[in-house]
Amino acid sequence: MKIDILTLFPEMFTGFLNESIIKRAIEKGSVNVNICNFRDYTLDPHGKVDDTPFGGGNGMVLMCQPIFDAVEALKTEDSLVIMMTPDGVKYEQEKAYELANNKHLIILCGHYEGFDERIRSIVDLEISIGDYVLTGGEIPAMVVSDSVIRLLDGVIARESHLNESFNDNLLDYETYTKPRDFRGMLVPDVLLSGDHKKIQDFREKSRYNRTKERRSDLLR
Ligand code: ADE
Repeated sequence: MKIDILTLFPEMFTGFLNESIIKRAIEKGSVNVNICNFRDYTLDPHGKVDDTPFGGGNGMVLMCQPIFDAVEALKTEDSLVIMMTPDGVKYEQEKAYELANNKHLIILCGHYEGFDERIRSIVDLEISIGDYVLTGGEIPAMVVSDSVIRLLDGVIARESHLNESFNDNLLDYETYTKPRDFRGMLVPDVLLSGDHKKIQDFREKSRYNRTKERRSDLLR
């Protein structure tokens, strides 16, 4: 998979791309991530990418020209163009699975008061990561990229996806590691029993009970 991220703040992505699982996925060639500064595409002699809103009001609005030109330069017939915006459809695990089947994602990160409305005409999908407003689309773009990259073949063990939260509309089961007794809090005996059937039953119940307790909306 290839992911092109269009942003005015490329350095925000340095840590994200150079640590842990994402770094390894890039090194292995499971994903190719390209951070593109769309200021490089502006035709304005002063490097301008935004301007005041017609009709008045606060803030600056991202202009069409640099973003249209950047997307047109990067786009192929395999591309899906995504805009990060609080006005988009709410992002969920199911969408991460869907996006992981694409060959090429182009992700637009807004800043300031947002995008000129006409930019939406070149976008296939608008995504919000939740009902709150961030200073820009960079963190949302990392959220979406991270959730997609970890699903790509060879990035993490396939079995790790089986019981994780939101699969089958259930949260993950509870887990423990050494020591067995920490300040009087004990690991459930069944996990030390070596009985795989009982352990599996315990984990299934754990998933169901946690979901019922914390996210009963998922069970409906
Ligand atoms: N940009 C600012 N806030 C956002 C959000 N919640 N989701 C996606 N993009 C955003």
